[in-house]
Amino acid sequence: MSYIQIKQLVKKFNGKAVLKSLDLNIERGSLTTLLGPSGCGKSTLLRSIAGLHSIDSGEIVLDDKRIDTLSPKEREIGMVFQNYALFPNMTVEENVRFGLDMKKVNKSESRTKVQEMIALVGLEGKEKSFPRELSGGQQQRVALARALVTEPKVLLLDEPLSALDAQIRKHLQSLLKRLQLELGITMILVTHDQEEAMALSDYVYILNDGEIAQEGSPNDIYKHPKSEFIAKFIGNYNVLNKATYEKVFNAPLVDAQYVAIRPEIISPEPIEGARAIVGEVMHTAMLGSIIRYDVKIGDEMIYVDRLNRTYQQITDNKIQLYVKEEDMIKII
Ligand SMILES: Nc1ncnc2c1ncn2[C@@H]1O[C@H](COP(=O)(O)OP(=O)(O)O)[C@@H](O)[C@H]1O
Ligand SMILES: [Mg+2]
Repeated sequence: MSYIQIKQLVKKFNGKAVLKSLDLNIERGSLTTLLGPSGCGKSTLLRSIAGLHSIDSGEIVLDDKRIDTLSPKEREIGMVFQNYALFPNMTVEENVRFGLDMKKVNKSESRTKVQEMIALVGLEGKEKSFPRELSGGQQQRVALARALVTEPKVLLLDEPLSALDAQIRKHLQSLLKRLQLELGITMILVTHDQEEAMALSDYVYILNDGEIAQEGSPNDIYKHPKSEFIAKFIGNYNVLNKATYEKVFNAPLVDAQYVAIRPEIISPEPIEGARAIVGEVMHTAMLGSIIRYDVKIGDEMIYVDRLNRTYQQITDNKIQLYVKEEDMIKII
């Protein structure tokens, strides 16, 4: 049985269901991501699990125990927010110790645990600093240490990295993954960044408008998007509707309403048996390890991604592109 089971969870605000009968199963020690556009209900779901508000119906089971009837304190859940939410008048050490003091853990045990946790998140030497003396990334490390020191059964993370700049975010992503693996803790991470979700998760739930639009491993979702919404949301697929597809490829589309094509499988080099299309490069964007071309095909724009190797770059304006039939994902 799964470590966390959420069954037919409904949460309403002012009579309107924001979570519409959700079912989730989360494995012990896994990192599960809730991904979805702003306002789809991600924070509401986390807050329901943490007990920060009541739920209208359904059940939440953690480690074989029903917890939705318990107070937040009794649930043994830790939480980290986007805005760090540290106590400004307490030092790093005092912030981290807070949960242990609440639980009346004795002084010497508490001191050891706090030290260990501060070392684990890489903040040695900052014990006596106040939050205002730390960078955003360091403050979020404190928040992680503070949430983990009481050894919660689950750590809930609500867009913890969204306020940080790209480089710091990458460091903290690795830290999160390392903490999950070293401590064996179950994590539920909320993000609206699909790359972050793909990079960190064992399992992903994509929410849309209070419902689960798709669930699965990152690889599974990336390779088999179930709907137009998922295809557009994940991996920057080119999604062509039936009419556009038929115009672009000059061939009928049977048994599908849409076709999703990944930008990286469209090739400027001829592929045997592939469909050929002629396009015009309108814009070239350097994205680091890849180069993205905006290519106009008739009235349509598609993205084409190439690895950033000079000998592979597209230099002509008018180009011929090739896509293999089996690389096109049909969506009904
Ligand atoms: N306390 C609240 N009162 C009324 N409506 C709320 C409250 N909290 C969230 N909502 C609404 O519920 C929906 C989901 O919000 P939220 O869970 O915060 O989305 P997300 O975290 O995915 O951006 C939104 O339409 C939001 O306006
Ligand atoms: Mg939110």
